[in-house]
Amino acid sequence: MIGGDKPTDSIRVGINGEMDVLDVEPGATLMESLRSTGHYEVKNGCDEGVCGSCNVLLNDGELTRSCLTPAARCDGADITTVKGLLDDDGDLHPLQEEFLEHGAAQCGFCIPGVLVAAYHLLQHNSDPSDVEIADALSGNVCRCTGYLQQLEAIRDAAGRLDQTEPMEAEQ
Ligand code: FES
Ligand code: FES
Repeated sequence: MIGGDKPTDSIRVGINGEMDVLDVEPGATLMESLRSTGHYEVKNGCDEGVCGSCNVLLNDGELTRSCLTPAARCDGADITTVKGLLDDDGDLHPLQEEFLEHGAAQCGFCIPGVLVAAYHLLQHNSDPSDVEIADALSGNVCRCTGYLQQLEAIRDAAGRLDQTEPMEAEQ
């Protein structure tokens, strides 16, 4: 999926459609490199692959826990963070609007990872059942909402999106 493991102190990546250079400390994860380069929308909830707060999409849209991904292996990768869901004018994606509408974001800490997981779901399943939505969120921990508002928001966003066109990252 990504480039070879090589000793480096920086990598060139595409982030939400723009080229960027990430600093890479020895042994750093992609999450650490993203955050140290100012991409604070990628959250560190557990640092050990449990909570999903650090989710990003890699390359062809692979849902990835960036806290488990060695940064040095991502040279040349295309990365989508939650900011990549915004359109060219900076307007919110329907998923983001529905999260606001449903009060599905409370403290907000989990939301970047949840939205990336939800976006990944809708890329592959434009009309998910509640069970499929719940399954898609099973790798995300939210301490605030009880998940029901998030499920309802994703269901309503799916209903709004044009079902005839494949959903692509808006960058
Ligand atoms: Fe990566 Fe929790 S910070 S899964
Ligand atoms: Fe607070 Fe999810 S909204 S952890």
